[in-house]
Amino acid sequence: MTSAPRTRSSAELIAAEEPVLAHNYHPLPVVVARAEGAWVEDVEGRKYLDMLAGYSALNFGHRHPALIEAAHRQLDRLTLTSRAFHNDRLAEFAERLAALTGLDMVLPMNTGAEAVESGIKVARKWAYDVKGVPADRATIVVAADNFHGRTTTIVSFSTDDTARAGFGPFTPGFRVVPYNDLAALEEAVDETTAAVLIEPIQGEAGVVIPDDGYLAGVRELTRRAGCLFVADEIQSGLGRTGRTLAVEHESVVPDVVLLGKALGGGIVPVSAVAARREVLQVLHPGEHGSTFGGNPLAAAVGTAVVELLETGEFQRRAAELGVVLREGLEALVGKGVTGFRSRGLWAGVDVDPALGTGREVSERLMREGILVKDTHGSTVRLAPPLTVTADELREALRTLEKVLSRQV
Ligand SMILES: Cc1ncc(COP(=O)(O)O)c(C=O)c1O
Repeated sequence: MTSAPRTRSSAELIAAEEPVLAHNYHPLPVVVARAEGAWVEDVEGRKYLDMLAGYSALNFGHRHPALIEAAHRQLDRLTLTSRAFHNDRLAEFAERLAALTGLDMVLPMNTGAEAVESGIKVARKWAYDVKGVPADRATIVVAADNFHGRTTTIVSFSTDDTARAGFGPFTPGFRVVPYNDLAALEEAVDETTAAVLIEPIQGEAGVVIPDDGYLAGVRELTRRAGCLFVADEIQSGLGRTGRTLAVEHESVVPDVVLLGKALGGGIVPVSAVAARREVLQVLHPGEHGSTFGGNPLAAAVGTAVVELLETGEFQRRAAELGVVLREGLEALVGKGVTGFRSRGLWAGVDVDPALGTGREVSERLMREGILVKDTHGSTVRLAPPLTVTADELREALRTLEKVLSRQV
């Protein structure tokens, strides 16, 4: 990694943002200038181990050589056509992504929120065209404490006041039930239900993992009730949990899988709705679309991402290193960690509130060269790139121990 050319210092750049950049984020005070693999470097040349990986958008690390090469090759040939025309990269992307997910068809979009919006539209259309729900009566059942994105419709069924307050009026047609509660779900589903939309693991809520049997139960219940199971795998999918999809831990195949984040290889925004043919074929020309969705650059990078996952190497790494992560965290319980939840290379770590908020712990870790991000209250999320080594992971855990024991 060569050093970035210095223009302004980190402090000057942070100060320069203040008057001109919307304050919708509260980033840690680190200004990243370069990155490679699991490491990033700030403007002053300080190195940090990235234990957040862009909320799983960087599952393959920063600038994975195969992904960068695919992007460069495509940049030299063709970048955008819009869907007014076909492009020569899209068929292969759709074929291979459908095969990877075990589903039949793919609708390419860009951001995660767009994939969720698209999933909602497709589920509603399916309810009217196939299930026979009366016009405008379709409902979608969702879980409390969900995080599916930031659009007006998506925040309509958020239970987080900060995400909702001031953004009404909201889109109707959603029923919220407690997560991990099959009885509540059963009660909420009726003849108007188009779909049950859940995260197989609730990421933003603090990496909340449902009980064994919950996902299989959702599959069974939705099949029996004649509604769709839509799994939002935007954060949990594409290797993070040690499987291609988190639903695979319960051998479940949903009707619709929403993908994003890592699908763009940390290079371009790429998202997708993957679904059974009977579901996605409800869309006809003009009913839904996106200028950028399925563009050749996105398709080339997305195909290279699928190719990495087809080898199974990253899923294996996440599963194996997940054991290192779990054992390391178990050793910290009672030493500043009050509890944790982990699957694969993904953990929500509850820190003793007496030692500081998740934000304060994240700032202390940052000063020691480890980048993480808090979720709620005293929970810190760990989600390193799947390319991290066991030694790097152990070093991060040792630093966490030091920070929590206030040795640094
Ligand atoms: C489960 C889930 N769904 C959807 C989204 C929204 O994705 P994006 O920020 O790309 O719109 C996120 C983002 O964190 C997510 O975690």
